[in-house]
Parts: sequence; structure tokens; C-alpha cells
Amino acid sequence: MSSRDNALWQQCWRDRQTDFHQQEVNRFLTRFWQGLELAQGSRVFVPLCGKSLDMIWLAQQGHEVVGLELSPVAVRAFFRENHMQPSRRKVGRFTLWRAGKISILCGDYFSAGRADLGEIDVVYDRAALTALPEDIRRLYVAHLKLILPAACKMFLLTVEDADKGETREVTLGPSAEVIALYSEAFGIELAHVESILEPDPDRGDGIARCSEHKVYRLIPKQGCQEQHEAGPRTSAVCNN
Ligand SMILES: C[S@@+](CC[C@H](N)C(=O)[O-])C[C@H]1O[C@@H](n2cnc3c(N)ncnc32)[C@H](O)[C@@H]1O
Repeated sequence: MSSRDNALWQQCWRDRQTDFHQQEVNRFLTRFWQGLELAQGSRVFVPLCGKSLDMIWLAQQGHEVVGLELSPVAVRAFFRENHMQPSRRKVGRFTLWRAGKISILCGDYFSAGRADLGEIDVVYDRAALTALPEDIRRLYVAHLKLILPAACKMFLLTVEDADKGETREVTLGPSAEVIALYSEAFGIELAHVESILEPDPDRGDGIARCSEHKVYRLIPKQGCQEQHEAGPRTSAVCNN
């Protein structure tokens, strides 16, 4: 399946309407990533990666990084703006761009299979789940389960707004949506919450609203054993 917003995203990149792109490495990533306690050289999947500089930081930590992005404009910009000369080749439905420790599969997330990604130890999700329409998010998570080993951890950053009438305690806790999507397979640790006043994008009058920036670490409830027994997998991304 394919997200109905694909054409819109492609157009955003062509029109350079990319306000979501951060000019600096995400500060919650650098502050809370170590708490995942990953083995040296773990492989990180970054779905819907855009041209995020967070991939550079992850590679600097010694990780192999596998991004996945729909727009070739974004992928080209990522390598050009970071002064890298990537190799490029067709792999199934994707174009695989690669330079050093960073590979980016260019194509539709919903077309990806396990073999495209290879072995993955952890997912870094910033504005991937939340970029999708609410009714597609369930399919995004179901697809993640299909293409990743059960032992895969997750680092999830969200920006959440309080629902009407919600108590402060509820607002500052794990969101009902994250619990509904992930609690069956993962233990959910809310590592950090920060209330930030920012301009309300739904209003043109500069009025600010308070949003909760949350850092989740999702630890699989089972699956470590399964990954051990499965042994190493190969993939287009792993193999040179
Ligand atoms: C809100 S942006 C976030 C990008 C990046 N995670 C970041 O932190 O800057 C969402 C990205 O997802 C990409 N995208 C949307 N739907 C996609 C799909 N079905 N497959 C692959 N990428 C997709 C868009 O092109 C866009 O770059």
C-alpha cells in the first residue's frame, strides 16, 4: 500500500516547503539516546528520514545508519549539503544511496521488506509516525513489525498537544495513541517531557500554544531469543 499523501510530500520537497527540517542535530536525541544501551556498531533504521542531520550524528556514534525517504530531492540534498559523494544503484523498488556508514533507500516506506533493510537493532523515529495521517499510523506500525526483528528497540520523539479537558497529569504522561500503537509489543518508557511554548501553526496571529515534547524509549517485550536463533541476515544494504 502507499500513503495517499505521497504526491504532497514530493511536492513539498520540490517547492522547498520543509519547515519540519531541523538545522541542527536534535537535542533530545543527543541527550537521551545513550539510555537505550545499544551494543557498539548497532544498526539504526531511520524511517521517513528526510535530510535529517540526526543521521550524521548517529553515524558519528559508530552506528550503521539506514534511512528511508520517499523524495529523491531530499536524498540528493542530504548528501550534497553534507559534502558526501554517495554511490547509487537500483535495489528492487528502491534506489540505494550510500556514503560511508550512511545508506538511504529512496522509495515508499510501505514497499519496503525485511530484505531491503537487512539487520536492524533500533529505530529512530522523529516526525515519521507523526508525519502520517492518523488513520495511516496503525498501518505504519504494523508495517514496522513486518520488516523488523522482534528484538528491535525504538527511540521515538513526539510533539503532543493536550486534548480538551485533559488533566495536566494525563497530558504529561505517555500518550494514549503511543500506548495503543506500541504497548502490545513494547515496554514504554517515557524518558523525558518538556513543555515548550511555540507559535500555533493553526492561527495566523502569532498566539503561542504549549506543546509537550516527549522522548520515548520502546523496549521489546520479547524477541531477543528469536534474533539470536535467526542468525545474521543479508540484504542489499548490508552487502557491498
Ligand atoms: C515530517 S518529515 C520528517 C523528516 C525527518 N524524519 C526529520 O526529522 O527531519 C516526513 C518525511 O517523510 C517522508 N515521507 C512521507 N511519506 C513517506 C513514505 N510513504 N515513504 C517514505 N517517506 C515518506 C517525507 O518526504 C518527509 O521527508
